[in-house]
Amino acid sequence: MVTLSPGLKARLAPPLKIGSFEVGSRVLQSPLSGVTDLVFRRLVRRYAPSSMMYTEMVNATGLHYVKALPKIMEIDPNERPISIQLFDCRPDFLAEAAVMAVAEGADTIDINMGCPVNKITKNGGGSSLLRQPEVAEAIVRSVVAAVAVPVTVKTRIGWSDKEINAVEFAQRMQDAGAQMLTLHGRTRAQGYNGAARWEWIGRVKEALSIPLIANGDIFSVAAAVRCLEETGADGVMCSRGTLGYPFLVGEVDHFLKTGELLPAPTPVERLACARDHLEMLWAYKGEKGIRQARKHMTWYAKGFLNAADLRGQLAVIENLEQGVTLIDRAIEQLNQQGWQSEAEEMPQLVEV
Ligand SMILES: Cc1cc2nc3c(=O)[nH]c(=O)nc-3n(C[C@H](O)[C@H](O)[C@H](O)COP(=O)(O)O)c2cc1C
Repeated sequence: MVTLSPGLKARLAPPLKIGSFEVGSRVLQSPLSGVTDLVFRRLVRRYAPSSMMYTEMVNATGLHYVKALPKIMEIDPNERPISIQLFDCRPDFLAEAAVMAVAEGADTIDINMGCPVNKITKNGGGSSLLRQPEVAEAIVRSVVAAVAVPVTVKTRIGWSDKEINAVEFAQRMQDAGAQMLTLHGRTRAQGYNGAARWEWIGRVKEALSIPLIANGDIFSVAAAVRCLEETGADGVMCSRGTLGYPFLVGEVDHFLKTGELLPAPTPVERLACARDHLEMLWAYKGEKGIRQARKHMTWYAKGFLNAADLRGQLAVIENLEQGVTLIDRAIEQLNQQGWQSEAEEMPQLVEV
């Protein structure tokens, strides 16, 4: 049972202010490379119309040399509020990319200082900036000087357990002109393992005057509420909890505004959403969209009898018709038989 305390409700009632830009929700959809394209964001926005969304991270060096807008940077003119996330280590390239992002319609520019992937960190981007705070500072100053929209930073609590520098780093980004910071409560060394350490988010919150968004392990309304209570953060950002579940941001937003839990979508509703996702990916990206849809489809097909079989089939679809036929057949079966959970199908997974 989750409850919304009057104190938390009142604290979160005013709009989130990112510099002069106001956002009508304290729940944000994180940037997820390979996931948060225009199609996915459109689905999340069905349930969370006022939430801030982020593009997948965009390589500023790539933009500098190619000079053409990659598809991952495209914004639908009707989607607001929206931030374009950039990564790189060169302040001048990032400033140039930020100008292009604003021309595309970004309401804010976010700089990725948290990505743990080797390919990114060995080139000086992502979380390796935690070890180069002077470069990170120069980046923020350079981007702030180049664009009129607010500039924000998304980072982790440190490089490793021996190098946790979230408080000093966050203050430095604020002093350089960042208007909001999102903190993922893990070190780079943790990757996505272990629990997110929300206590560090609380410490950083106390040290900042700009808004701080808490990130890491927000998989449910209850987790979001607990995180906001424990950290004092100004908002929460949902990430892996939205994979195959574009309802999460809207569920948390609705609860924080009303104190009411929305009914969880049924397996049929989730599969209907999967079918929309597949059709939209096909319409937007063609065959490439079908290849990308495979992973999304397997994330949706969970929690009902025979879901594992369906996942196996959806993982190898070759075209739109195959996917739609599989999903429609599963929906028909669920409608006829009612649904049993996967746990009932696999009793060994049920906790006793
Ligand atoms: C598949 C995947 C892609 C991601 N891509 C990005 C990205 O492009 N930019 C970014 O700042 N973080 C990215 N992240 C990190 C998430 O935004 C988030 O910080 C992290 O997953 C922690 O939150 P969680 O524990 O709720 O998942 C990615 C994470 C995953 C799992």
